[in-house]
Amino acid sequence: MRKIFFTGCTHFNHTNIIRYCGRPFQTVEEMNLVMANNWNNKVAENDLVYMLGDIALCCSVDWICDLLKKLNGEKVLILGNHDSRLKRYSLFQNQFQSINKQYIIEYANQNILLTHWKSTMIDRSIQANFYCHNHSKTNEYKVENVIYYNVGVDANKFAPVEINEIHAW
Ligand SMILES: [Fe+2]
Repeated sequence: MRKIFFTGCTHFNHTNIIRYCGRPFQTVEEMNLVMANNWNNKVAENDLVYMLGDIALCCSVDWICDLLKKLNGEKVLILGNHDSRLKRYSLFQNQFQSINKQYIIEYANQNILLTHWKSTMIDRSIQANFYCHNHSKTNEYKVENVIYYNVGVDANKFAPVEINEIHAW
């Protein structure tokens, strides 16, 4: 059965993110390798991954597209602040089922809003907001019956997180 995963703020190839976020890697090459291996150890070829933005920095469109081809799964992109420069390239567009500013999925009778930035515009039709922008190391809390979950790699062992793992809380 197809599994559904979420991830965000991977910042592949971004040397300074190691220092900014205290990531446990000595070099950017090590970080790239570990995160790609973590991804492919968890995600199978026919699974679906929602990527909540900030895929990679300090690299070309070709480099990012080569990376995306090596990462298992069909992908849906929710744009982050560092992805906007890429969206006009057809090679980049072709790596995704769709590219969106935000996206709503239904799971277990709940509507989950997927955004790069934590949303401040939640109405009664939304029960959860998955986001990643703040790079925090904590990943779950509830405010007025809305569940917020940070799917970013810094809070999820540098790997995509499966929807069943999130729903467990
Ligand atoms: Fe980010």
